[in-house]
Amino acid sequence: MNQIAETLLRRIERRDARVGVVGLGYVGLPLAVEFARVGFRVTGIDLDERKIHAINQGHSYIPDVSTADLSALTQAGTLDATTDFSVVRQLDTVNICVPTPLRKTKDPDMSYIVSAVESIAAHLHPGVLICLESTTYPGTTDELVQPLLEATGLKAGEDFFLAFSPERVDPGNPVFQTNNVPKVVGGVTPDCLRLASALYQTAINTIVPVSSTSVAEMVKLLENTFRAVNIGLVNELALMCDRMNINVWEVVEAAKTKPFGFMAFYPGPGLGGHCIPIDPFYLSWKAKQSGFDPRFIELAGHINAAMPHYVVEKVSDALNTKRKSVNGASILIAGVAYKREIDDLRESPALDVMGLLHAKGAKVSFVDPYVRAVHARDWSGRIDIEGVEAARGSFGKYDCIVIVTDHAVFDYGAMVAEADLIVDTRNAIRTPASHVFKLGAPRPEAQDERAAVR
Ligand SMILES: NC(=O)c1ccc[n+]([C@@H]2O[C@H](COP(=O)([O-])OP(=O)(O)OC[C@H]3O[C@@H](n4cnc5c(N)ncnc54)[C@H](O)[C@@H]3O)[C@@H](O)[C@H]2O)c1
Repeated sequence: MNQIAETLLRRIERRDARVGVVGLGYVGLPLAVEFARVGFRVTGIDLDERKIHAINQGHSYIPDVSTADLSALTQAGTLDATTDFSVVRQLDTVNICVPTPLRKTKDPDMSYIVSAVESIAAHLHPGVLICLESTTYPGTTDELVQPLLEATGLKAGEDFFLAFSPERVDPGNPVFQTNNVPKVVGGVTPDCLRLASALYQTAINTIVPVSSTSVAEMVKLLENTFRAVNIGLVNELALMCDRMNINVWEVVEAAKTKPFGFMAFYPGPGLGGHCIPIDPFYLSWKAKQSGFDPRFIELAGHINAAMPHYVVEKVSDALNTKRKSVNGASILIAGVAYKREIDDLRESPALDVMGLLHAKGAKVSFVDPYVRAVHARDWSGRIDIEGVEAARGSFGKYDCIVIVTDHAVFDYGAMVAEADLIVDTRNAIRTPASHVFKLGAPRPEAQDERAAVR
């Protein structure tokens, strides 16, 4: 280890390194808080003035970070935030947590990483450790980030240190949060790995070192592709079960009793969020550049992307039993966040379901205790919609309620008692009823007949 690395290691171990986090969203803010909690002085950098203002006021905008925790840290002077990248000159470590979306063509949009790295490079100095955390294709750290930083004349592994460590946060998960999810780390050189591991070790219980940044990048894509492919498989099974008059939910519950060799995934209205619908395409894009055609990813992508269409078909079938059409029907979408108990609308399948129903002439409303409004820019209906109240006594006024996100706070009993028709895409309603249609399950009449036979 050279002298510069030794000095930084000591500073990290003593907690007197100054820590920076670039990109203060769902990933960056909890990480900044975790570093501040273990005794570092932390500065967050973001382009969004509102986030900077909120942090400096001690106000959290991320559900996994409480305002009480944040304000204690800002008041103690251990955490602050700025839009000004010149602070990088005073920092010893910088973690980059900026978005990695897809372009419309499903190619990686690297513009946020490039912009953040260029802003850091303008203030790069010897002795700083840079850790990229954004989910991205294997090769990004070596092929894209390292040359941008080395264009300053400083060399990775000698003057500054560079690592990749994928973020595995699961927003809304009450058990697993930033500090108790093992952290995979890959460095450009052994010193880079050692320094990055030392930094994460201060705040995260378990560190998993790997031999290169590309391995660390690939680990994250394997994890998310594993989910996307297995969800694609169970979604296809749901479509199959629908055709074969079998209840897919019952099948998965029973299969889950096998104590080895099986892991339960559940069907649903489609993929959502910033990770599962997007990350596998980072991998397929890169694989194609190496002349490899990744078939599982594409196939799962097709099946998962078709699920909102299947939900609309279910709604149409359900309305048909009442001699009604989608056109003109008043439809309430219950839950628009991409998963239960969170407020995140990104890539939510509810937006697709709403758009498809709207295009067919339905009058679409929504209820979601975590989401106040769906804005024109969020969905293809291109109008702003305010959420309605989910009050008892209000569910009877719709032609159909579509449960897209199974928030625990919904009063499902009241929905079943009052609604004319329900399409349940999440198996939120466990007791069969003649007006409840489920994704991947026999039509209610068929279910009732079977229940009678038993
Ligand atoms: N949200 C998750 O559940 C999750 C989980 C694991 C990994 N990830 C990955 O982590 C990364 C960040 O995701 P997120 O959900 O935190 O995103 P986010 O959109 O919540 O936050 C990103 C932040 O980066 C800021 N930003 C954008 N460009 C910037 C720049 N040039 N300089 C400074 N700040 C900039 C944005 O203003 C925003 O506040 C992505 O690569 C994502 O795939 C996300």
